[in-house]
Amino acid sequence: MMTIDIITVVPDLLDGPFSHSIMKRAQDKGLLMVRTHNLRKWAINKHAQVDDYPFGGGAGMVLMCEPLANAIEELQQSTVYDAIIYMTPDGKTFDQPMANQLSMQQNLLIICGHYKGIDQRIRDQFVTMEISIGDYVLSGGELAAAVVVDAIGRLIPGVLSDETSALTDSFQDNLLAPPVYTRPADFRGMKVPAILLQGDPKKVEDWRFEQSIERTKTRRPDLFKED
Ligand code: ADE
Repeated sequence: MMTIDIITVVPDLLDGPFSHSIMKRAQDKGLLMVRTHNLRKWAINKHAQVDDYPFGGGAGMVLMCEPLANAIEELQQSTVYDAIIYMTPDGKTFDQPMANQLSMQQNLLIICGHYKGIDQRIRDQFVTMEISIGDYVLSGGELAAAVVVDAIGRLIPGVLSDETSALTDSFQDNLLAPPVYTRPADFRGMKVPAILLQGDPKKVEDWRFEQSIERTKTRRPDLFKED
């Protein structure tokens, strides 16, 4: 069972993403446990304060050291984390190899920033990995954490009913996935490629591979340049 703990100031944002479909099934099957922790539980005063103005001035608030350190240390008392991840636009850009690697870990702790981020000393002292989901800024790390947990969760062995289906995803071999079709074979005069209807698995496989290469060449030529 993989455990993912998430520290956030907006736990409600994470109620939805893991309660449906494949993420729900992963948890129902006992393969994944996602727990969200409200940072305000570790607030420094009765006003539930967890953030403060930045030293040196400037716009926005910063999540304070004390609540975060106390939250992390309390969670560490019952769980040894393989990685403590901070979601941030200045982190390493998330990709399929990172998802693959993280899906092999046992216990992860994810910290979601909000406002202007978290005090640098928490990053220096506790965080072992910083992840961005792309070159754009979200209002908090929660949606980014949901993306990462989803990408990891579906890779845990046994989560997808057909275990090979993650292997044929786009990016697993630096190729985009081929087009897919289902019934009807003729929709408003638009026909499904004949090869898919002929029942020759070898021909289908070759066709899909060609289509993958073609798609990758036209849509993502950069993927060909890698490794
Ligand atoms: N928090 C705000 N923007 C983010 C991004 N692009 N990736 C990860 N966390 C973020």
